[in-house]
Amino acid sequence: MEKGAFSPEKFKNIATPFYYYDVELLSKTLKAVKEEISKYGFSQHYAVKANANQNILKQIATAGFGADCVSGNEIKAAANAGFPTSKIVFAGVGKTDKEINLALDYNIFCFNVESLPELEVINSLAEKKGKVASVALRINPNVDAHTHEYITTGLNENKFGFSLTSLEHVIYAIKSMSHIQLIGIHFHIGSQITEVDTFLPLCEKVNELQDLFESKGVALQHVNVGGGLGIDYDDPNNNPVADFKSYFELFHKHLQLRKGQHLHFELGRAIVAQCGSLITRVVYVKEGDSKKFVIVDGGMTDLIRPALYQAYHKIENISSNLPAEKYDIVGPICESSDVFAKDYEINKTTRGDLLALRSAGAYGEVMASQYNCRELPKAYFSDSL
Ligand code: LLP
Repeated sequence: MEKGAFSPEKFKNIATPFYYYDVELLSKTLKAVKEEISKYGFSQHYAVKANANQNILKQIATAGFGADCVSGNEIKAAANAGFPTSKIVFAGVGKTDKEINLALDYNIFCFNVESLPELEVINSLAEKKGKVASVALRINPNVDAHTHEYITTGLNENKFGFSLTSLEHVIYAIKSMSHIQLIGIHFHIGSQITEVDTFLPLCEKVNELQDLFESKGVALQHVNVGGGLGIDYDDPNNNPVADFKSYFELFHKHLQLRKGQHLHFELGRAIVAQCGSLITRVVYVKEGDSKKFVIVDGGMTDLIRPALYQAYHKIENISSNLPAEKYDIVGPICESSDVFAKDYEINKTTRGDLLALRSAGAYGEVMASQYNCRELPKAYFSDSL
């Protein structure tokens, strides 16, 4: 069974469970994005929601990317980590007055606005500060992302963005808002999209909508197509870096930018997922009537994706090279859904072994909770162990 390059020796004195980040892999990933994106002059704003660990944020900021934030605290976290506020976009269906004021004070690049009432509030708060807020309209393109229903966002039934039918009215309404400057349009159809062709209908929809805006005399400087590029959860060892080449190339080929227009992306998962693993220790191996359970000290409070989205994370026993056996690998939380994998083969396991749950760098640590009065998992980095 192929395994990642972990040395359990290094982890000997660290209390489990914890997140372990391979900073060299993150750096390699960032380099790959830079290389592909710079071919076309596009901009990438890292989706902070995927992983807001300050060390991770700092490394991404140092690589020169912007940030995509969905709360006031994410804006603060991004600014603290060194992202220039002039490269911060702020999205979210329910921005509060406090968050909007904070974003105005930080002079962020752009608000991705999702509704008319939100536009009105931003206009009046900007007016009070004597500022003009730059906004992009988040449009729900009604495009199917063919991904898990909880992480699809671009269908009419989802809560996000302006519907296509409301656009003419919004364009008209914006004209009377003196403290709003409409600079662009924004989309995000969903997450963990592994077939890049899934983005084709989005490109077509954007091209169509550009015509609509043009016909209404609105010149847009920016188009933002969000994030969503998926990663290989099945085989992180052989595919540690996502296919950024095909992804950016697809947009270059199929999205017709108007003269002087700039294209933006908000990738999150594809940047950070593969560099992170949840390391957890086996507390007990329990023989059930029909199965064997490996009970580990990490649970759904540390990595909720399997319980919430039936997500798959590859699991490796990094302490054992014995022949593989089949187990249910479960956490200690008092919920039946606290299961990482069922009937899963890992090297024969005994109490005290360390397991690595792979591809956990995105939506892992950042979604941890303290349910059952548990401690939040700590994070360690390959360059300081
Ligand atoms: N932009 C917007 C507007 C978004 O809503 C998202 C993710 C992104 C960018 C970044 O998407 P990414 O490149 O990471 O796919 N917790 C779920 C994923 C939720 C994604 C929410 N929006 C999971 O663990 O799979």
